[in-house]
Amino acid sequence: MAPQFGPDFQHELAELLAWRRDVRHFRRDPLGEELVAELLEAAQLAPSVGNSQPWRFVRVRSPDLREKLAGHADSEIARAGAAMPADRRAAYAALKLHGMREAPEVIAVFCDDAASAGSGLGAATMPETRGFSVVLAIHTLWLAARARGLGLGWVSVVDPAHVTRLLEVPRNWRLIALLCIGHPEEPDVRPELERKGWQARLDWRAQVSER
Ligand SMILES: Cc1cc2nc3c(=O)[nH]c(=O)nc-3n(C[C@H](O)[C@H](O)[C@H](O)COP(=O)(O)O)c2cc1C
Repeated sequence: MAPQFGPDFQHELAELLAWRRDVRHFRRDPLGEELVAELLEAAQLAPSVGNSQPWRFVRVRSPDLREKLAGHADSEIARAGAAMPADRRAAYAALKLHGMREAPEVIAVFCDDAASAGSGLGAATMPETRGFSVVLAIHTLWLAARARGLGLGWVSVVDPAHVTRLLEVPRNWRLIALLCIGHPEEPDVRPELERKGWQARLDWRAQVSER
C-alpha cells in the first residue's frame, strides 16, 4: 500500500528543504561505504527522460587526482574573480567556493549523452533533458545527504573539458557537477552567500507571474 504522508512528515520535509545547504566547510571524518551507497541508491530514484538514468558518478579516490581538481578549481575561481566588477572583487575573494581538500567524499557527476536505457524516448526533441535528469539525481542525493546530517557542496567553477580529461571518462560523458560530501562544520539555515552578504534568497512571490 502506498504510504500516506501526514502533517508531521510535511513539516519535517519543509525543515529538510529549508536546511538543505550548499556546504564548503567540512569535517574530515570519513563517511563509510554503507552511507555513500545509501546516497547513491537514493539518487537512482530520480526521474529521468525516457527513464534513461543518464547519471554517471565517478568517486574520486586518488589523493593526486583530488589535489589536481582542487588546484584547478582554485585557478578558475581566481580567474573568475579577476573578471568581477571592481566593487565586488574583495567580497568575492573572501568567499570559499569549494571544500575539495577537506570533504571526505568527492564525486564527479557526468551525463551520458549516449545512454542506451530508454532508447532515446523524449531526448530526440530536447536532448538537454538528459542533463536535466542528472541535475535531478544530484538534488535527490543532496536531500538524502541532508536527511542524514551530511552536507553537500556543488563545485562548478571549473573547466569541464579539463576535468573530463583528468578523469579519463568515456567520450560521450559530459560533466555536470563536482560534489563534495561530508559532515558540515556548522549547519546553518541560511545560505552561506547570504550570510557573507553576497546574495540573499529572494521572495518567492517575486519569481512568479501570470499571463
Ligand atoms: C548549478 C550550481 C552550481 C553551483 N556552483 C557552486 C560553486 O562552484 N561553488 C560554490 O561555492 N557554490 C556553488 N553552488 C551553490 C550555490 O552558491 C548555492 O546553492 C546558493 O548560494 C544557495 O545556497 P544554498 O544551496 O545553501 O541554499 C552551486 C549551485 C548550483 C545549483
